[in-house]
Amino acid sequence: MQRLIARAREVALRAYAPYSHFRVGAALEDANGSEYVGCNVENASYGLSICAERNAIFTAIAAGASRPFRALAVACVDASAGGCSPCGACRQVIVEHFSRDAPICVDGLGRFTSEQLLPDSFGLQA
Ligand code: THU
Repeated sequence: MQRLIARAREVALRAYAPYSHFRVGAALEDANGSEYVGCNVENASYGLSICAERNAIFTAIAAGASRPFRALAVACVDASAGGCSPCGACRQVIVEHFSRDAPICVDGLGRFTSEQLLPDSFGLQA
């Protein structure tokens, strides 16, 4: 997990965050042990911005990563105290792609499971 945290911190430095100045990085390990990273990318039309966590997950899927993913690390290099707890939208996406007991490590805050981050998540049940 230390390696994923280091990679999350590293990719956070590549974030495009000229509006918030809040640079976030995420790194995940897939079911085969391959690693993928993502950072937040903002836009002048603010609502088009993408969070680091979803960028990492979507990048992994586009690259053919094996699901369910095994572990995720999130780091913000600009958070003054504590870390960057994943937003609600990212939590819903995390739940869909990580195993239930996969460690989600939020740098500065601790380790959680996706179930802890989003109990009773939305699903399409008939
Ligand atoms: N951000 C993330 O990358 N992940 C989160 O879970 C919450 C917020 C980004 C989005 C935006 O670029 C900046 O942090 C400030 O909200």
